[in-house]
Amino acid sequence: MRVLALVLSLTAIPAMADEGYMRLEGHGGPIKGVAVSPDGRHALTASFDNSVGLWSLSEAGADPLWLEGHEAAANSVLFLPDGKRALSAGDDFDAILWDTASGDMVARLEGHEGKILDLATTPDGKTGASAGWDGAVGLWNLETRAPIAMLEGHRAAVQAVRFADAGTRLYSAGSDGTVRVWNTASGDLIRVEAKHGFGINRLVVNEAAGWVAYGALDGGVRILDRESGEEIADITSGRQPVLALTLSPDGALIGVGDGEGHIHIVSTTNWKTVRDFRATPRGPVWALAFDRSNRVVAGTIQNYADIWPIATATAIDESDVALRSFQRDPATMTNGERQFMRKCSICHTLTEDGGRRAGPTLLNVFGRKAGTLSGYIYSDALSGMDIVWNSETLDKLFDLGPDHYTPGSKMPMQRIVRDEDRADLIAYLKNAGADPQETLK
Ligand code: HEC
Repeated sequence: MRVLALVLSLTAIPAMADEGYMRLEGHGGPIKGVAVSPDGRHALTASFDNSVGLWSLSEAGADPLWLEGHEAAANSVLFLPDGKRALSAGDDFDAILWDTASGDMVARLEGHEGKILDLATTPDGKTGASAGWDGAVGLWNLETRAPIAMLEGHRAAVQAVRFADAGTRLYSAGSDGTVRVWNTASGDLIRVEAKHGFGINRLVVNEAAGWVAYGALDGGVRILDRESGEEIADITSGRQPVLALTLSPDGALIGVGDGEGHIHIVSTTNWKTVRDFRATPRGPVWALAFDRSNRVVAGTIQNYADIWPIATATAIDESDVALRSFQRDPATMTNGERQFMRKCSICHTLTEDGGRRAGPTLLNVFGRKAGTLSGYIYSDALSGMDIVWNSETLDKLFDLGPDHYTPGSKMPMQRIVRDEDRADLIAYLKNAGADPQETLK
């Protein structure tokens, strides 16, 4: 177990720790969304750990302001144009409007019946849009904080939304492989702008240049003329799926992040590659945003966001980067530890401080009454339950699944079907809890 503690504490800086390179560290889970403020001085990160971080880009190493309110993974973040408000959205089906000075929640926008994957705002900051897994595009009045409409038409999850033409038009794209254009005022569908044989994950609109670009599940990245719908360029790299797509503030660069961990930066004047590098040794690049200093902020499977100077970004030295805990060689673990690493460690630690994960630390969970660890914000459902955690109740939790045993709790649906796996996991947790020294040895 000493090895484990060591591996978890190692966070290597890329070999090219260059001028301008920065790392935003503090989240307890992978980063699903990133955004840079209009003045370029702040960044937002949305994490699997349920929280949103608001970071100063001028103070390296400073702690972020934590925006707490999502009850599941946060997926998407953006600054409103005046920089005073931010919007985030997540797996809890909600979007939240925040005050960026205080970090306070201003309003919770409820209405979707599925996760929200993407957000957009009009240039005046008065209207917001959300992309829902329920197949709907949400339109929100950000002044009254009331829903305006749920636009139905996509035949599957909506993955991306972007406004155009001073907010009078809205583009949406989704798993049904279509890009649609809506009239924002009437809510009417104007046309299906594009059809792709695979689901579309990301969308950007370059109004000045008159094109829209999308990135898809099969790795396809295509640029289409907004008027004619004709293809202007195809910058497909072959890596799939495309998970992130972003345009630089001046429109000169487009950044593509993919499921294989690469960042591909392309010039929008000649469609040639400017940079193409591996940004994480394993797993996907989920989110990208250019800042105002020729850098690109990247959210990946790692618990931190990297900010790469575009001019010098090169592939990270893979031998130098610690693997995430659940990527360790499973052959070196007992079955109980393996169960924990694979199924729990992304949301729970076995350390005193809980490591800023979505769930509370499971150190000393044996004998704990459910929902009572101080310092962790539980759902009302779990804190109201009369359960004490022990071998029997933990076994029930994963035999029946949290949705049945602790209905209404924030813990996602999951079951561990094999009796033996549950028993090994419980023995592992008990051992870790019974003797804290044991976990550090
Ligand atoms: C995707 C995130 C996620 C995963 C994966 C996850 N949990 Fe949880 N877990 C949570 C959250 C969030 C809570 C708090 C629930 C609430 O407040 O309703 C929680 C609560 C718990 C609790 C109650 C703790 C207490 O203090 O009352 C136990 C026990 C627990 N989890 C065990 C596990 C185990 C064991 C695994 C792996 C098999 C696991 N969890 C996987 C997110 C997760």
